[in-house]
Amino acid sequence: MNLTKNDVCQSGDGKEALYAELEKHWLPLCPSRELKRKPLGLTVLDVPLVLFRTEEGAHALLDRCPHRNVPLSGGRLTAGKLVCPYHGWEFDGTGACTRVPGLCTFKPGPHHDASPAALRERDGFLWVRLGGEARSGEPQEASVPEPLALPFMNNPEYYSFVWKTAVRGSLLNAAENLLDATHTHYVHAGLIRTDGGRQTVNARIRAEGASVEIEYTGESGQAGLISRLFERDRQRSFGRFYMPGVAQIEYSSAKGLTLLITAVMRPTSFAYQDIYAVITMKRGRFTNGLKKRVLTPFLKKALNQDITIVETQQRTIERWGGESFHSTQADLIRPYLEQLMKGKVYDTPHEKKVQLFV
Ligand code: FES
Ligand SMILES: [Fe+2]
Repeated sequence: MNLTKNDVCQSGDGKEALYAELEKHWLPLCPSRELKRKPLGLTVLDVPLVLFRTEEGAHALLDRCPHRNVPLSGGRLTAGKLVCPYHGWEFDGTGACTRVPGLCTFKPGPHHDASPAALRERDGFLWVRLGGEARSGEPQEASVPEPLALPFMNNPEYYSFVWKTAVRGSLLNAAENLLDATHTHYVHAGLIRTDGGRQTVNARIRAEGASVEIEYTGESGQAGLISRLFERDRQRSFGRFYMPGVAQIEYSSAKGLTLLITAVMRPTSFAYQDIYAVITMKRGRFTNGLKKRVLTPFLKKALNQDITIVETQQRTIERWGGESFHSTQADLIRPYLEQLMKGKVYDTPHEKKVQLFV
């Protein structure tokens, strides 16, 4: 087979364009409760940040001391100020340098300040904006939509717990993996679906704004173990993706929600995602902890199977110097994910219906 130039592209192709799109959104960082008393260092889109809390709330600065560039995340909080671990310069929540130890008369100026990034706390997660200030020193755009609402996090009828995991793969390939039904017979054979237990399912795709949803009906349950153990009379299931990086699967019975799996993905870099998997169930009076204990090993196994296949995919892509993908109509979600990550906004909702044998 002769390779043409188009067959092989460089790994990481499209990184700049993707970053430019993602930076237009509030990017998820971590669950609020991960930020405790100590400063927390984490990376998003290759930008190291330090998060810390003061009485005024949570703050984010670039994780680099303006003095000699030591990471501020190695420092400590004293009286509401972030203290650099090297020479003890102190910074407030806006990044302003408030003290340089050892000088009696020196007044710190703006070039002694650390660079802030805009931070929001919403529905139990911390979100950051990297556009503008954080990279270039330009002011933030005013008209950015608020961080994505995750209303189930505060709904007293639901019970949620969070697992932290990570995958070496692109955001697009990781999101596709979570939302694609056609791999489940192979990667999760017996656990989620089986090749011999297929049924005809109606899929209705709806893209709206910066999100896409696929609703599956006509599937009474899946042939795999998880569905047989934990689901009764499935009516509908959904796969959803919201820019910039939240993928969600929902299973519902006639009585309402059975299981909601929400992967909140933080792109640490182009080919590496930190993932917070939020597992949500209907709250039972006594059974929450029990449900969690029984369900956990099955879901963890499925999650590890996904991580293994996405990482294998990533290694192969890198070995060949780039992606060379060929799709069919069974790859329902991919075209929408690609469009969204290129910045498409579906101002008028787009709908499409397809039948699948899954
Ligand atoms: S490097 Fe931070 S105070 Fe010197
Ligand atoms: Fe999977």
